[in-house]
Amino acid sequence: MTSRKLSRRSEELSPFHVMDILAQAKALSQQGKTVYHLEIGEPDFATAEPIVDAGIEALKQFKTHYTPALGLPELRDAVAEYYDRKFSLKISPQRIVITPGASGALQLAISCLCDAGDNVLLADPGYPCNQNIAHILATETIAIPVSAENHYQLDATSVAQHWNGRTRAAMVATPSNPTGTILPKQQLISLSELVERKQGRLIVDEIYQGLVYENEDYTALEVSDECFVINSFSKYFGMTGWRVGWMVVPEFYVDAIDRIAQNIFLAPPTISQYAALTALKAETQVILDARRDEFKRRRDFLLPALQQLGFDIAVKPQGAFYIYANCERFTDDSFSWVKRLLIEQGVALTPGIDFGTHQANIHCRFAYTQSLEKLEQAVDRINAFISK
Ligand SMILES: Cc1ncc(COP(=O)(O)O)c(C=O)c1O
Repeated sequence: MTSRKLSRRSEELSPFHVMDILAQAKALSQQGKTVYHLEIGEPDFATAEPIVDAGIEALKQFKTHYTPALGLPELRDAVAEYYDRKFSLKISPQRIVITPGASGALQLAISCLCDAGDNVLLADPGYPCNQNIAHILATETIAIPVSAENHYQLDATSVAQHWNGRTRAAMVATPSNPTGTILPKQQLISLSELVERKQGRLIVDEIYQGLVYENEDYTALEVSDECFVINSFSKYFGMTGWRVGWMVVPEFYVDAIDRIAQNIFLAPPTISQYAALTALKAETQVILDARRDEFKRRRDFLLPALQQLGFDIAVKPQGAFYIYANCERFTDDSFSWVKRLLIEQGVALTPGIDFGTHQANIHCRFAYTQSLEKLEQAVDRINAFISK
């Protein structure tokens, strides 16, 4: 008989509970019911036209071959110019690695820092794939509960408490998914100093950079050249499906990353890299900034509306497009609650358990990746649900 054995690591991968929600939402749509998709973690806007045109042009010019594993040299230069323009920072293009999305960057970062049995520290709640990517790479993770007092972000004290002899890195995302909160610069400075003292590396995921509605939109590269800084064309640049991102690393790691990238990806997608060149142009950013302003309008509507309904949102989300709300007033089982909300009122949310275990059953995530009009209707539906 043919073997049907799965590796233990693949068997152990936890599924996303939001997939159940998505399947249910799809079934409701097929029955002709209106579904409000507040569970989707990507911009509702299509990729901006100049970027699409650049992709088409690249195809017409038959730019269909592999690029170097570290990415198109012009794009590495353009990312360096972007840091100069946005943050007045001079970053050597040699330190910039183009990747298949932030997801590709995360795999490269863990692969070049950790051996089997090593561990990385990360926040709970946090972006769920980090834990899973580490698991696939035989790296362990230590999830540190974070709360409103530390802006739902790791801080030096908690990282020091959890660091052990096999810890290689601490991982943060700012603004964060699912909380939309920004790691305060001072907190990042202390964190970075601590991680350097421990001879580890800080991995800073800046994928939501550009989608910042107040306070300074800074980069960890202003604080230290020793960290790994991950970014992507997915969110602010609106290119989720193009699968292109980047990572800035200390020069020492570039060669190892080149070797790993050659083997696992060969190269990031070529057409997407040409399109990304246009995404970085100052003219395109006018379009992208207008979209950011639209996200801010949506947040400014949704945040007080949810608070009025009785959700507790302890820290004002300052970026990304998420609100992580405490729904304890309505339930102590947010997964079942979210499922009922979908079935009864057609509003889809992501339950807290998709982001970790810490107070997960009393939280859910709202993504404002829908028009203001739809958000207004969704709030009315939620109101009807909780007023029953
Ligand atoms: C915090 C965070 N990091 C990384 C990713 C992966 O993004 P991509 O691979 O599309 O760049 C996401 C996607 O939602 C995210 O929220």
